[in-house]
Amino acid sequence: MAMEMLDEIQKLKEEATASLSGLKTPEDAENFRLQFLSRKGSLAQLFERLKEIPKADNPAIGISLNELRNLLESEFESARKNLASSKKVSISSVDLSIQGRKRYVGRKHPLTQTAEEIKRIFKSIGFGIADGPEIEDDYHNFEALNFPPDHPARDMQDTFFVKDDGGKYVLRTHTSGVQIRVMENNKPPVRVIMPGRVYRNEAISARSYCLFHQVEGLYVDKNVSLAELKGTISYFAKEFFNAEAKLRFRPSYFPFTEPSAEVDVNCFVCGGKGCRICKYSGWLEIMGCGMVDPNVFKYVKYDENEVSGFAFGMGIDRLALLRYGIDDIRLFFENDLRFLNQF
Ligand code: DAH
Repeated sequence: MAMEMLDEIQKLKEEATASLSGLKTPEDAENFRLQFLSRKGSLAQLFERLKEIPKADNPAIGISLNELRNLLESEFESARKNLASSKKVSISSVDLSIQGRKRYVGRKHPLTQTAEEIKRIFKSIGFGIADGPEIEDDYHNFEALNFPPDHPARDMQDTFFVKDDGGKYVLRTHTSGVQIRVMENNKPPVRVIMPGRVYRNEAISARSYCLFHQVEGLYVDKNVSLAELKGTISYFAKEFFNAEAKLRFRPSYFPFTEPSAEVDVNCFVCGGKGCRICKYSGWLEIMGCGMVDPNVFKYVKYDENEVSGFAFGMGIDRLALLRYGIDDIRLFFENDLRFLNQF
């Protein structure tokens, strides 16, 4: 019995040391612990059997079992430490000369940058900012702006109609409808700009796209005059283009303003001599404007004998094209990083 036991101790020693040398992962170590060293493990089982051995033989077996336990525990402890430290990357395996990864910092789209610049300029002279829906009803997009139904002025803007109950809704063709919404909801005086996206059923080309962006402006108060309109736009042009910017107001027609004008700025590329950008005219058209038509005031229930006002509307895309010397509007919508990274 005692001899048998000594054999088993020897067998366990061989088995356990072989298994110790094969430990590769923390899971292996845990399995080893469970198999040999836990309370129900092989070593504990031998200690259990020690109780059955006659006392006389006991000391020798007890001693060798204890030796085995000490041995396995200390060997296991050091094997486990080795496994933990081998997980750390040694310094020699790091290549310090390798290039780092470049982190790309995004930037704002050129149209957003241009819109923000326009907003900054008008905010600095006291204009607030208003917003309106892109799916607009006929009333706000046309009728209240003094475009009567079936009036040929509607043909100035090739419109996308929303399929519903017979053309009551359109994709807004301009931001001018927000003027109406602002006046419906606020008593005079009002002084706001209204940036936003607009849609027209244009044949797509380098010059026109089915969507673009405008900034509308509206100032209504007592005694607002054409001189203030000119002063405001001239301030804007000097800030946006350059301090030498000269303006030209050409008489024009818009249903919602009377009188109406189109505004040109002298070409900042050639200084007015004529070049490709200004199509050899020396002038660049930048916006439409005028004094708010009294009929529009009637629609929003403002007293046209009490107040007067001016309005203007400019294309953000067009201003960005001019400012950066870009010759194809479609580039703004293609999201090609080779283009966008230049701004
Ligand atoms: N809504 C006009 C357009 O899209 C631009 C415009 C012209 C706006 C004159 C105005 C204005 O407010 O007074 O062509």
